[in-house]
Amino acid sequence: MKVLIVGGSGGIGQALVKRFANTLPDTQVYATYRTAQPTITLDNVRWIQVDASKESDVSDLAGQLQQLDILINATGLLHSQDKLPEKSIQEFDPDFFNENLQANTVPTLLLAKHFAKALKAKHPTYFVALSARIGSISDNRLGGWISYRSAKAALNMALKTISIEWRYKLPHCCVLSFHPGTTDTALSVPFQKNVPAGKLFTADFVAESLIDLIHSKQASDSGGFYSYDGSAITW
Ligand SMILES: NC(=O)c1ccc[n+]([C@@H]2O[C@H](COP(=O)([O-])OP(=O)(O)OC[C@H]3O[C@@H](n4cnc5c(N)ncnc54)[C@H](OP(=O)(O)O)[C@@H]3O)[C@@H](O)[C@H]2O)c1
Repeated sequence: MKVLIVGGSGGIGQALVKRFANTLPDTQVYATYRTAQPTITLDNVRWIQVDASKESDVSDLAGQLQQLDILINATGLLHSQDKLPEKSIQEFDPDFFNENLQANTVPTLLLAKHFAKALKAKHPTYFVALSARIGSISDNRLGGWISYRSAKAALNMALKTISIEWRYKLPHCCVLSFHPGTTDTALSVPFQKNVPAGKLFTADFVAESLIDLIHSKQASDSGGFYSYDGSAITW
């Protein structure tokens, strides 16, 4: 089996790389990093440097990987060095909004464009992106975090649209949007103190949940939005 983890350097990305490589030793794992290559050195893991918001990088990557069974995009951004997510529309900043789209939405669209060929097969294949429940419009009760919310809502719409297009073009490919729950990574660090006891997950737990979810889904489930516990989330 050939698996590509884009954003393999992130907290959840690294846990996915380790779990696929260790629990499925016959699997070849291709993992990407943007800034610094992680220190995971396993025989069946190959690291490749990719900026997933740059079309030339994604297209070069697709040129190196002609066939894949599973592609997971684990890139994303909630806060930058000098910006936290907005509490009010008064904090809206177009540059931060665009940064959110570049990190949370654009990579999945580029990956779908350039990896459609590699995922087209007569056996089941999977195209999965890490989204967030906060991108659900029907579940939005609190408001706030408008750039991240909007970027994840756009990601969800993109995944649904891709799943419809691929129903006929890639009939064996299952396209999934995945909510990991609040996970103990750099992304959630500034917000962890308000998380209820037992609701801050380890990246290992989330990686295991996502792999279990993939094993339980097939092409007929394509276009679904699922939580770490396997339950469906409304758009
Ligand atoms: N952690 C949570 O509580 C939580 C909750 C809900 C949803 N999620 C989602 O889960 C996903 C993974 O989050 P995480 O917690 O693992 O965050 P993380 O530890 O901050 O990792 C995010 C990764 O995305 C990479 N990245 C961002 N933009 C990129 C780009 N253009 N090209 C390549 N890599 C890029 C970063 O790479 P560099 O460091 O190299 O820049 C980083 O490794 C994200 O989509 C996030 O929105 C997380």
